[in-house]
Amino acid sequence: MAELNFKQELVGCFGYPVAENPTQAMIEPAFRDMGLDWRYLTLEVRPEGLEAAVQGARVFGFKGFNCTIPHKVEVIQYLDGLGESAELMGAVNCVVNREGKLIGENTDGKGFVASLKEIDDPAGKSIVIFGAGGAARAISVEMALAGANRILIVNRSATRGQELVALLNTGVKARCPELESVYAPWDGDFQIPSNTDIVINATSIGLYPDVDARLALDASTLASHMIVADVIPNPPKTQLVKMAAAKGCRVIDGLKMLVGQGVIGIEYWTGRSPDASVMRAGLEAVFD
Ligand SMILES: NC(=O)c1ccc[n+]([C@@H]2O[C@H](COP(=O)([O-])OP(=O)(O)OC[C@H]3O[C@@H](n4cnc5c(N)ncnc54)[C@H](OP(=O)(O)O)[C@@H]3O)[C@@H](O)[C@H]2O)c1
Repeated sequence: MAELNFKQELVGCFGYPVAENPTQAMIEPAFRDMGLDWRYLTLEVRPEGLEAAVQGARVFGFKGFNCTIPHKVEVIQYLDGLGESAELMGAVNCVVNREGKLIGENTDGKGFVASLKEIDDPAGKSIVIFGAGGAARAISVEMALAGANRILIVNRSATRGQELVALLNTGVKARCPELESVYAPWDGDFQIPSNTDIVINATSIGLYPDVDARLALDASTLASHMIVADVIPNPPKTQLVKMAAAKGCRVIDGLKMLVGQGVIGIEYWTGRSPDASVMRAGLEAVFD
């Protein structure tokens, strides 16, 4: 008779609010597909409970956990170390238990770059990014580390946009000397420079329930040689995605990025690669 084992390995997500976070719906099917008896727990952790929750993860022997709003920055003080991009960004979305040490990583931008690399190499490319929040920060740092050499940050709040450009032109540029990053104000419909290779919406415009919200951009400046990406996972077919597809652009939707960062998280936690198509199917089943 096979040896009985009722103890599952644990990972999860700490957030507040967290109930609507769909990550479990893509991670647990991947574990089942990999033959792993692991659980991904969606855990509501209030800000005042974060330190105790991290201690709990240590005591329960979690293999790691994701952090979402509002914990991505605050969690750092309770960890044992940071990976390179988490250190550069000052934000952690994935904690990994490496031989008893909890190490903070940031997989949001890495997931984006992995999905981009399926269709093109970011090295040497000229990028326009709308947004300067957490997603824009993660994507721009990782695109720079992947060799992008011009990054234009377009953001509603000039202060936030300029802060991100300052980060790119100091800490990140020290590792990527070719990088040139500039802030552009966002007044009215933004005109994409014709030498742009990749356009990315990293704002929350278009996220459910505001599905008809329009990203202010001059559609006539979108050209078919451009790759257009949107971080919005729900719904995956945003107004921008539809507009770009109609223009003949190659398109990356927000589910690809979500799956991409989930793949990297599973690789960090288990040391094995999951099937991305199983993960996407898990998400599509809940977003249908
Ligand atoms: N697919 C994925 O795997 C993935 C991963 C991470 C995040 N995301 C998505 O990325 C989005 C952004 O997340 P975040 O963490 O970066 O949020 P955040 O830190 O709050 O930043 C939000 C960004 O959106 C901009 N923005 C919001 N509403 C706007 C409007 N009406 N007009 C112009 N700009 C607007 C903000 O501009 P201001 O600075 O001017 O306020 C800011 O740049 C969310 O929808 C999230 O679901 C997706």
